[in-house]
Parts: sequence; C-alpha cells; structure tokens
Amino acid sequence: MIIKQFFDDDSSSYSYLVASQRNNSFIIDPVKNNTKKYIDSLDKLSLKLTFGFDTHLHADHITALGELRNITNCETIMGIQSDVDCVSKFVRNKEVITVDEIKITALYTPGHTDDSYCYLVNEENDQILFSGDTLLIGGNGRTDFQNGDPDDLFNSLHNIVLRLNDNTIIYPAHDYKGLKSSTIKEEKIHNKRLKMSKGEFISHMNNLNLKEPNLIDTAIPANQECGIIK
Ligand SMILES: [Fe+2]
Repeated sequence: MIIKQFFDDDSSSYSYLVASQRNNSFIIDPVKNNTKKYIDSLDKLSLKLTFGFDTHLHADHITALGELRNITNCETIMGIQSDVDCVSKFVRNKEVITVDEIKITALYTPGHTDDSYCYLVNEENDQILFSGDTLLIGGNGRTDFQNGDPDDLFNSLHNIVLRLNDNTIIYPAHDYKGLKSSTIKEEKIHNKRLKMSKGEFISHMNNLNLKEPNLIDTAIPANQECGIIK
C-alpha cells in the first residue's frame, strides 16, 4: 500500500491518495485547487483512481470530487447523512469497501458536522484511520456549524475512535502546525481535549468563539454539487 499526503496551503487541509499493490487507488478529501497535483501523481505512479471520498461536507475548501469523477471516472462516495445529490454512492456506518487487498470501513462519527465519517483502512498488519475533522492531532474539529454537536463529538471520539487499537495510525483532514500524522496511543497521552469529562468538553467547545471559515458561504453550496459550480 502506498499513501501520499497532500497539503492545501489556503485551507491547511490534508488529502490522501492511497494505492493498492495492483495499482488501483482511492483519494480522501481532495481539494479542487489541487486537482492537477492529484492527476500528476496518478499518472506518475500509473494508478487508476477507483474511488473518491469526502469525510464530510466541507466548509473551508471546495472539493475536487466532481472534477476527479469527470476526469478519471472514479466513483464518488460520502455518508448517507450528507445533504448532497452529486455523489455516486452513499455509505452507511460500518459499510466496507475494498480496493484489492485494502479494506476500507466507513465509521459514522457525527459531532464536527452531522455527516462526518472516519474511514478505517486495514491492510495486512497496518491499521490507519483517516479521521476527517473528528480527531485532529492534539485537537478535534469545531462543532459550531453544519449541525455540529459537542455531545455527539465526545461520544464519537470516546465510543468509536479511542476504542480502536492503540497502534492505529491517524491521518487527519487538517493540521495547522505542520504535523503530519499521529497514533491513537499518542493522542490518548497528549491530546488534552480527550482528557476532559463530557461536561468540560461540551463547555470548552461551546466557548471557543472561532471565526467562521472564509469560504463557508461559497464552499458549502459548491460542495453540495461536488465542487462543480454551474
Ligand atoms: Fe470540516
């Protein structure tokens, strides 16, 4: 299995291209500004793009799912809870998709938004969680728009994500400090948000007073069309 991590400077978003041993691949959370980079990587590695996933309806960047589907004919996938009609396949909690030897399990983890999923990838002895904005390195996604809910996020983190094996590698959808990956074990030790009681967590999340993402008014409607603006 090959994993390539891409960083989008404008939104501090990470996208991931994952390839099987038989040159099939899938991409998670692609950003429209970077479509050419993804296509160049697919070409360089002689990969066929089979699936494109968005972990949730993003508010801070425009997705490349539509463009990648148009260029590569990949299937586009989001969770059944996402308010979009442009994807070719909706997944439900615990649904499994395979790409050759790679098993991808969709885990419904609401809280950052009400349509947030994590994707758990297993291949031989490795287990990797593409954690979207549910679990970030040393943090977690905000909960103050798109039906986000700190109570739901606390449950998703403690009842789903932290129950995964300690050695699970975490690849998040964002990092603002240049960190690239983590593990469940590291997050259990170092992530202060995960040490809070449910009450502390809810109160903390409800009092962050973050400014809205610059692109929220354009990104959400664009992403409901998979980033293809008519
Ligand atoms: Fe997000």
